[in-house]
Amino acid sequence: FVDKIKGCHTGHLTITVATTANHFTTRILSAFSKKYPDVTISLDVTNRRRILEQLENYEPDLVIMGEPPKGHGLKSERFMPNPLAIIASPEHALKDKKNLKLKQVQKEKFVVREKGSGTRGAIERHFSENGLVCETTLEMSSNEAIKHAVSAGFGLGIVSLHTVELELANNHLITLDVEGFPLQRHWHLVTREGKAISPVAEAFRTFVLEEADKFVYYDK
Ligand code: PGA
Repeated sequence: FVDKIKGCHTGHLTITVATTANHFTTRILSAFSKKYPDVTISLDVTNRRRILEQLENYEPDLVIMGEPPKGHGLKSERFMPNPLAIIASPEHALKDKKNLKLKQVQKEKFVVREKGSGTRGAIERHFSENGLVCETTLEMSSNEAIKHAVSAGFGLGIVSLHTVELELANNHLITLDVEGFPLQRHWHLVTREGKAISPVAEAFRTFVLEEADKFVYYDK
């Protein structure tokens, strides 16, 4: 029915997505763009903290991020799971251990995302809910960099399964069997109340809600 929305065939779409959401958003954009070839798109990829600042300033038409905070004039629709897993190199000493307790892995070296990242916030909350602290040895602002550090044997990483689809499939990385993991988060489509949503943005919103999970390839 989106084809019938007047004016949605042309126009410009300004979206911002969380660093982690970029792993599937570009596939969605590619399919959207085949359906609406005359729509031009600007995509900004940044972390949760910066996304909230952009929403505050009414900048993007639409945002894809983790659950936004309540009561900031934001409208949000949850659309897809975002599981976080503990990743390791295939040679890691814990590789064959079953049902590890968080306390057992806590002593390991961890490579995690920077402060301000939604992934990082979720990790810290999870450890603290279990009465623990995640001692981070290495902080990185890129999921790619974390994957490289972990596969080089630096230590364990905690990332979204969206970011390691290929590495898990070709056995360059493995996930550890740790109680409470994968940690379940969800993706949300977020707009700022009071910002008029253009027909193009409305078409994209509908497309994401209906099609997004077709562009996710990790083993569900
Ligand atoms: P991040 O956001 O890329 O900033 O970590 C993802 C999330 O909120 O889970």
